[in-house]
Amino acid sequence: MEKLVSLAKRRGFIFQSSEIYGGINGFWDYGPVGVELRNNIKKFWWDQMVRLRDDVVGVDTSILCHPKTWVASGHVDCFSDPMVDCKVCKGRFRADHLDAIPCLQKPSLTVQKCAIDKKGPGELTEVRQFNLMFETYVGAIQDEASKAYLRPETCQSIFTQFKNIQIVSRQKIPFGIAQIGKSFRNEITPRNFIFRSREFEQMEMEFFLRPEEKEGEKWYEYWVEKRFQWFLGLGIKPERLRKREHHKDELAHYAKGCTDIEYEFPFGFSELEGIANRGTWDLSQHMKFSGKDLSYFDDETKEKYVPGVVETSLGVDRTLLTVFADAYAEDEVDGETRVVMRFAPHIAPIKVAVFPLSKKLSEPASKLEKDLRQKFTTDFDDVGSIGKRYRRHDEIGTPYCLTYDFDSENDKQVTIRNRDTMQQERIAIDQVKRYLEEHL
Ligand code: GAP
Repeated sequence: MEKLVSLAKRRGFIFQSSEIYGGINGFWDYGPVGVELRNNIKKFWWDQMVRLRDDVVGVDTSILCHPKTWVASGHVDCFSDPMVDCKVCKGRFRADHLDAIPCLQKPSLTVQKCAIDKKGPGELTEVRQFNLMFETYVGAIQDEASKAYLRPETCQSIFTQFKNIQIVSRQKIPFGIAQIGKSFRNEITPRNFIFRSREFEQMEMEFFLRPEEKEGEKWYEYWVEKRFQWFLGLGIKPERLRKREHHKDELAHYAKGCTDIEYEFPFGFSELEGIANRGTWDLSQHMKFSGKDLSYFDDETKEKYVPGVVETSLGVDRTLLTVFADAYAEDEVDGETRVVMRFAPHIAPIKVAVFPLSKKLSEPASKLEKDLRQKFTTDFDDVGSIGKRYRRHDEIGTPYCLTYDFDSENDKQVTIRNRDTMQQERIAIDQVKRYLEEHL
C-alpha cells in the first residue's frame, strides 16, 4: 500500500485533500492523470450499464434532497456504525474494526491489542451508535426545520423520481435507472487510502421488476454475473476477484439476497460492489412517507403493482483503487527495477505519448501529437533522456510511446514502443492512427 500511495502522489493520480493545511482525514483530490483514469472507469460503467442497453436509462439527481427521504429510507434512525472512545489517547474507533485499526499513540499495536488484549495502556468506553450522515442547513435560518443531509447513497432519488422517469422514458418493466454521483458518509475511521473515505462517488443502478419472488431471484442472479464480468472487462485479474453471498443473518431487514464482489487488496479481500435483491421495500416506504402513488401500471395486462428492485452499487474510488493495485508491477530491467502500471489500454489515463529525440525536433513531433490528440488522450514530453521519459510513462501506464527522431524527417517513420513488452518498431507516421486504433 505504501508503494501505491507514494506512486499515486508522485505521478499526480491522487493527493491528500488540503495538504498545505495538514490535510483533512477521509478526503482526497485527484490530479491530472487520476482524473483521466477516473473518467475512463466511469465511462466504461456508463457505456456498459446505460448507453449500450435498451433497458436502462440514466439520471443525475441533486446531492441534497428533502430530509423526509432519509426518514423513509431508514437512514435517520438506522444508518449508524458502532463506536468506542479510548479514554487514554482520546481516539474514536469503529467498534467492529478494532483488530485492524492502529493505536493512535503506538501504531505498531492495533486498538484491539492495546486496549482489549491489554498490551498497551488503552481503555475503551462502552459501544454506542454513531449516525454517519453529514448534516447541513438549507436557507438562512439554522433550525430543526431547515436541517438537511448530504446523501449517503445516490439511489434514494432514483426511487423518489421513479414515476417521473418511467413516464418520460416510456420504459416498461423490467427496466433500470442508473446514476453516477457523489455520496458522503462521516466514517468514524476512514482508512486504507481511498478505500474508505468520507466523500466518494457511487455508480448505482436500480432495476425495477415484477414483485414475484422468482422474478427477483432471476434478475438478482443475472446482475451478479453481469457485474462480475464487468470487472473482468476492466482488466482485473480473475484470481483476485470473488463473489461472496451474504449469510441470512447479515442481510438488511428488507433484503432478500445480497452478494458482494470482493477484491484481494494488499490489506485482504474487501467489498467492491454489492448486488442486492431489495424487494418492494424502497418504493413502499416512499409511498408511505410521501402519500404519493409510486406503483406501476402495466398497459398490456392492466395490472397495477409496486415493483420489486434489484440494485447494483459500487464506488468509483474503490474501483479506481482496485485498478491501481491490480495494475502495479515491478519488472527487472538491466539490473534495475522498472515500475509499470499495466492498466487495460481502454482505461489508461494517457493512450500515447510523443517524444522528440531532440528539442530541435519539437515542432514536427508536436504537430504529430496535436493530430493524434483529436482521437486519443495524448501527452507531449521533451524533458530528459528518452529512457527517463519511458520510465515516467511506464509509471502512469501509457500503453504506447512514439519517438520522433532525425530519420523521421526523411523516412516519415517514428519508433513506437510497447509498454508491456518494451518492444520497439518503426512505423509510418501516416499509419500511426490505424495502429493505435487496432492495438488499443
Ligand atoms: N445503495 C446501497 C449502498 O450504498 P453500500 O454497500 O453502503 O450500499 C455501496 O455502498 C458501495 O459504495 C460499496 O460497495 C463501496 O464500493 C462504496 N462505498 C461505500 N462506502 C464507502 C466509503 N466510505 N468510501 C468509499 N467507497 C464507499
